[in-house]
Amino acid sequence: MSLTDRDLKVIWHPYTQMKTAAPPVAIVRGEGALLFDENGKSYIDAVSSWWVNIHGHAQPYIAQKVAEQLLKLEHVIFAGFTHEGAVELAERLLEILPGNQQKAFYSDNGSTAVEVALKMCLQYWHNRGEGRTKIIAFKNAYHGDTFGAMAVSGRSAFTAAFDQLLFDVEFIDLPNEQHISNLKSQI
Ligand SMILES: Cc1ncc(COP(=O)(O)O)c(C=O)c1O
Repeated sequence: MSLTDRDLKVIWHPYTQMKTAAPPVAIVRGEGALLFDENGKSYIDAVSSWWVNIHGHAQPYIAQKVAEQLLKLEHVIFAGFTHEGAVELAERLLEILPGNQQKAFYSDNGSTAVEVALKMCLQYWHNRGEGRTKIIAFKNAYHGDTFGAMAVSGRSAFTAAFDQLLFDVEFIDLPNEQHISNLKSQI
């Protein structure tokens, strides 16, 4: 049985209507900008695998570093413990981030980064004893698929089933020269 057929028996894919979608292409190998399927056909990965593969597939330096780290320490509880990789990454990120950034907080992915940002804002005002809970967000944006990220994203077919459960958000236009002062007064 092909990998595609095995997949169709056991997997639901994201953003995919499984009844009508074309069968998934089974990729067995990647190299730089190319992907190769189980029949040896090559494809240019023009969307960088949903825009997250910025250094190309099977990048030897990254693969070597990941393998070395996995053999040394794959994970450690991050409450009450720390490790070299986490500290060095934060140090190096803070060097290139704007000067008003002083600390890093690690999360898992784009959606949970948005959740963390929302929670930090809400908890900041909670800790100060002020119940500020109004959130503003740009119209028609996409921030991810967890509930908080959906709440601050534009509504779409993908959020329709959950709309009633999403918290209230004030949506504002993207700033441009014409209405920047209007937006500032809204804020
Ligand atoms: C602008 C933006 N924010 C958030 C996300 C969500 O990221 P993740 O898929 O890692 O949860 C995405 C994903 O495409 C995105 O493009």
